[in-house]
Amino acid sequence: MFKIVVANWKMYPTLSDSVVLAASYKKALDSLAGVEVVIAPPIIWLPTIVESYHHRSHHIHFAAQNVWPEDQGAYTGEVSAYLVKDLVSYAIVGHSERRQYAAETNDLIGEKIHACLRWQIKPIVCIGETEPVLDKNDHLTEPQWGKLRTQLLAAFEGVAKERFSRITVAYEPIWAIGSQNPATAHYTEAVIKQLRRALADKHGESAAPEVRFLYGGSVGVSNASSYLRSPEIAGLLVGSVSLKAKEFIEICEQASQLRAT
Ligand code: PGA
Repeated sequence: MFKIVVANWKMYPTLSDSVVLAASYKKALDSLAGVEVVIAPPIIWLPTIVESYHHRSHHIHFAAQNVWPEDQGAYTGEVSAYLVKDLVSYAIVGHSERRQYAAETNDLIGEKIHACLRWQIKPIVCIGETEPVLDKNDHLTEPQWGKLRTQLLAAFEGVAKERFSRITVAYEPIWAIGSQNPATAHYTEAVIKQLRRALADKHGESAAPEVRFLYGGSVGVSNASSYLRSPEIAGLLVGSVSLKAKEFIEICEQASQLRAT
């Protein structure tokens, strides 16, 4: 399986910025084999960008940055999984910025995950703790661990085991996002192992290996390979650096060279 690199453009690029960025990506990434790239533009530019990638390679995908769980209805300002299903193959769900600024709960995020699965969209579910509290045994300690575990298990609540592999978990420690203070690969691996253990304890040993875990939080050209080298880490969710075409492309190139076997 190839490594996956997600570009989360957040609410940054204007239409013209997005078109230029997408064109720079396309030129370099179309011919780059051995990596899965997922681009998440602001929802308003999504159709334009998808259209500009009309003839694209199969390893390039699009994502919504968020979805609403109901299919259609009186939900002013929202965009449902149902409405974007023909434009994207992924959706970012439960990003910490949505949990913080839009007060999204684990229950609402769970509904969004179900909506994605209903419409063949693969959810990328973001989870993360607010403080780095790894002890000497490489375990996250309470209460941070308790909250993180709850976020993880809520994402799989009511999901049939055979669909677990469609859910990707983006482990994004909140203290590391946009902070210039990324979690180390060692820290990330330790937490992902703890998360897999929690998944196995709840759903059986066969459940945990099915799920891909990405890392996100201040990823850049200089630290990307440390995560990509780890067999525990299936790829990266890149925020601010994804707005710099040259650097993002370099990360994708590293991922293609360090492809998972
Ligand atoms: P960052 O953002 O790479 O700018 O830290 C990551 C994210 O929020 O997904």
